[in-house]
Amino acid sequence: MKQAATAVAPSNIAFVKYWGVRDAALTLPYNESISMNLDACSTTTTVTFDSSLNTDEVAIQWYGQPARPTAGRPYERVVAQLDRVRVRAGIQARASVVSANNFPADAGIASSAAGFAALTLAAASAAGLQLAERELSILTRQSGSGSACRSIPDGFVHWLNDGTDAGSYAVSVAPAGQWPIVDIVAVVDTSIKRVTSADNHVRVTSSPYFGVRLQEVPDRIKQTLRAIRDRDLSTLGAVCEADAVSLHVVAMTAVPPTFYWNSGTMAVVHALHRWRDEGLMAYFTMDAGANVHVICADADKADVDQRLRELPEVQWTIVNGPARGAYLVDPL
Ligand code: DP6
Repeated sequence: MKQAATAVAPSNIAFVKYWGVRDAALTLPYNESISMNLDACSTTTTVTFDSSLNTDEVAIQWYGQPARPTAGRPYERVVAQLDRVRVRAGIQARASVVSANNFPADAGIASSAAGFAALTLAAASAAGLQLAERELSILTRQSGSGSACRSIPDGFVHWLNDGTDAGSYAVSVAPAGQWPIVDIVAVVDTSIKRVTSADNHVRVTSSPYFGVRLQEVPDRIKQTLRAIRDRDLSTLGAVCEADAVSLHVVAMTAVPPTFYWNSGTMAVVHALHRWRDEGLMAYFTMDAGANVHVICADADKADVDQRLRELPEVQWTIVNGPARGAYLVDPL
């Protein structure tokens, strides 16, 4: 027997971030988060359950490179997610997984969000599971890449969290067409360190500032929801910057500490301050890495992109508009 399905899923950038896991086995976060799906950074994954296979086979292809078999921890994480799907569908067949990213491996963009969202949708569909969006988001979250659950719904997405497995899932708060803003990734670091966030999600409680961060987040969630509804870029920008700085303060003050920023990161931040003094509305956020995501209006994207590319520290940029969530396509 052979059953195949192919899914496409976007990566996403969080305005208010997931930082800290309360229950690592279920990937339950301490706080809610809000993100935008990215239309220039996606993963396309085909899962084929095949009863003639003795073991799961996983190959990943990065932009501009041939597909390569995956081993080690990334392989184990994919197999664990396939196991969740197999248990739910009551099937035993091993699977072949082929996953292609349309952005380079060294862009320092969290590829796991797009990867685990596409994997979960393709595997669930190939296994014959009919899951509502909420169930799919919960199953995707359980993969261990929590942010992946936000790549399931469309556009602008809120990951709800009541501390329970059933109450921790993502919903769309507005479709991609709600607001023409862009996220320009300014790549200042191409080292493929990719220390996973997993250790730091557990370490957060060792920072004296983690409790402060948790107290601040609910108000940022409210302001971000309002900003998306009202298309209020200056509010969104202020919240994004404050939340990113708070995440990095927690990382820098955890035991042991992690310093993600490099001199290129700070060069972009200082440039944004200068440009804002000139009246250009462009704001930063960073994930668990050195690269800077610059949020601005679609109308300003050519100007901001050119300015970023002229900074000596910026190696290249990727311009993303808002995108729909994960969807199925015909098998490759
Ligand atoms: C800093 O555990 O979802 O991007 O380490 O890539 O699997 P991976 O990501 P995940 O943590 C993401 C944390 C974050 C903030 C965010 O996206 O909310």
